[in-house]
Amino acid sequence: MTNNIVFSGIQPTGDMHIGNYFGAVVNYVRLQNTGVYRTIYCVVDLHAMTVPYEPAVLRRNTEQMFIDLLACGLDPEKSIVFVQSMVPEHAELAWIFGCVCSYGDLTRQAQFKEKSEQLQGKQDAFISAGLFTYPVLQAADILLYRAAHVPVGQDQKQHLELSRTIANRFNTQFGEYFPEPEMLATETPKILALNEPTKKMSKSLGPKSYVGLFEDEQTVRSKVRAAVTDAGEAGTPLGEGARNLIGLLRACGKHDQADAFEREYAAGNRRYAPLKDAVADALIELTSGLRARREAIGADRARIRHLMQEGAEKARAIARATMKDVRALTGLPEHAQ
Ligand code: AMP
Ligand code: TRP
Repeated sequence: MTNNIVFSGIQPTGDMHIGNYFGAVVNYVRLQNTGVYRTIYCVVDLHAMTVPYEPAVLRRNTEQMFIDLLACGLDPEKSIVFVQSMVPEHAELAWIFGCVCSYGDLTRQAQFKEKSEQLQGKQDAFISAGLFTYPVLQAADILLYRAAHVPVGQDQKQHLELSRTIANRFNTQFGEYFPEPEMLATETPKILALNEPTKKMSKSLGPKSYVGLFEDEQTVRSKVRAAVTDAGEAGTPLGEGARNLIGLLRACGKHDQADAFEREYAAGNRRYAPLKDAVADALIELTSGLRARREAIGADRARIRHLMQEGAEKARAIARATMKDVRALTGLPEHAQ
């Protein structure tokens, strides 16, 4: 193992969905609880500024995401949990990395192409330079803590490759300093959209695409019931929609049920209604527990603000030490006091 430092970031884009949860957050909690890793988790508000947004909404969502991560099981006693912009060294290192990352590297990023195309379709389309350099800031997030392990979903694979390229170029140019971070995937690193099971579940595909992690029972059940599946003809291969639902059942820990459905479907009995009911039940069990925790934790705002401050201070101590080294290696003077 290169080192035992784990870093991940999550955007404060409103409510989390089960794609974020099963694709990434379950690993945040698992790694924290092994006791083997030093775990650092960040609400990346600076990344959320790369697309048009409202300041008041960003502020609210940032605090809510911090609460939601605690509701999912992150423990400020065991992990450093903080808000990206409260540690200004992220933006500083991003500038330096912008100078070791090539323009060509960034033009090959699929997420930029996808997001800029989505924006282009809108009225008053504005594609920020920040959206283009987004992965450079992500590399800075990870490498500021010299993290070697990054729990994320499959969609972040290319961004992580770029983080490795940046670490590598920096080391070649200025001397060996950064590890090359590796992706840590969950058992289900990609959850597909319920309404379009060829694409990943995402807020941008509309509310029918996802199940929110804190959504109420009725909404969860009706969304799962409406999930797109194949026609269920015996003898045809199981479609992506049905496989996605079985994957969700497994992600919820219901392996026996998932095995049973797979056996039935292999034998030619291809009714999906019972599968949907089982998935809805499992998700309701999960979301109702999380909703209760979110309410309890969120009730004490003064404590939340205190925890945010404490988390940022812990992160900043590490970030400062890294920047001191980086400034020396790259020929910059020391910070003013
Ligand atoms: P984001 O909300 O885009 O900041 O994503 C937060 C985390 O959730 C990242 O690690 C993503 O890789 C992961 N993630 C987002 N959508 C999905 C999905 N549909 N399936 C699996 N993981 C996902
Ligand atoms: N780009 C990631 C996403 O959209 C969020 C992110 C920002 C991140 N910085 C990070 C993930 C650092 C892991 C490590 O999901």
